[in-house]
Amino acid sequence: MAGSDTTRHSITGGLLALDQHPGEYARLRANPALLESAVPEIIRWQSPVAYMRRTALADLEIGGKMIRKDEKIAMWYVSGNRDESAIPQADQFIIDRARPRAHAAFGFGIHRCLGQRLGLR
Ligand code: HEM
Repeated sequence: MAGSDTTRHSITGGLLALDQHPGEYARLRANPALLESAVPEIIRWQSPVAYMRRTALADLEIGGKMIRKDEKIAMWYVSGNRDESAIPQADQFIIDRARPRAHAAFGFGIHRCLGQRLGLR
């Protein structure tokens, strides 16, 4: 499941993104070396895992919001991947970003995706 849903939804989402951004598609066709940064950009753009749920282990204030111990929260990776304060021009599909792997699609911390290096191949 972890490796199947994510990769096929990245592939189909990537095809759709290239179709919707013909300029980027033309640049990729002219210079296939751009695949190195286009693949992580496609994964950010598509964000095939929309969210995961966590249970708070302790009280924590984050973004002005209080989260109490034992409350359940949803971490929206797809929202983080459109966060302009973290990713410049987050609402644009750019196949040669300066830091294409700096996104949230693989999660963070000890449960960060085990297959991310394979997913990026
Ligand atoms: C585009 C491809 C992929 C994306 C976007 C993706 C995304 C994610 C995300 C968001 C998580 C949860 C991280 C968290 O809970 O903080 C995760 C976990 C995981 N992924 Fe992936 N994944 C991808 C491909 C793969 C592949 C190819 C494999 C294995 C062949 C894989 C294996 C796993 C496993 C085993 C975990 C659980 C890790 C843990 O809980 O410690 N993933 N992935």
